[in-house]
Amino acid sequence: MIVKFKTHGQPSSGYLSFFEDSDIGFPIKRVYYTYGAPQGTKRGFHAHKELQQIAWCPYGDITLILDNGIIREEVRLDKPTLGLKIGKGIWCEMIWNKAESVLCVAASMHYDESDYIRNYDEFLRHVKEGYWND
Ligand code: TYD
Repeated sequence: MIVKFKTHGQPSSGYLSFFEDSDIGFPIKRVYYTYGAPQGTKRGFHAHKELQQIAWCPYGDITLILDNGIIREEVRLDKPTLGLKIGKGIWCEMIWNKAESVLCVAASMHYDESDYIRNYDEFLRHVKEGYWND
């Protein structure tokens, strides 16, 4: 789900964009960012059992591919005002369309490797078994 951040500013002095817990629907426990990647870099290739995240690209141009096991969807983060919410149970791949693009992420949980699913077949098994069904 795309989130458009509230923004203040003008071209003569620049802009400030922001969001708070209430704008994204979960409390933030961790922030991380990825940078210094050449054009064409692909990262991600994993899903999360419980983690909820919001990703944004404050500089550059990055495509995110979101896959729920049935539908694959592409979202391009090429403006600093755009955020993308990534829920649990979504396989995610990222492609750097422009070198030096920066991907920032705010996450609902502390880092926990056991929350990752890094194997696509295992992800599909979880989907089939209804792991994320309410
Ligand atoms: P990973 O999530 O696999 O990165 P990407 O999805 O961009 O390919 O993380 C890369 C490495 O960094 C991996 O060894 C786990 C580690 N890591 C942490 O230690 N803490 C963190 O908060 C994150 C996101 C990753």
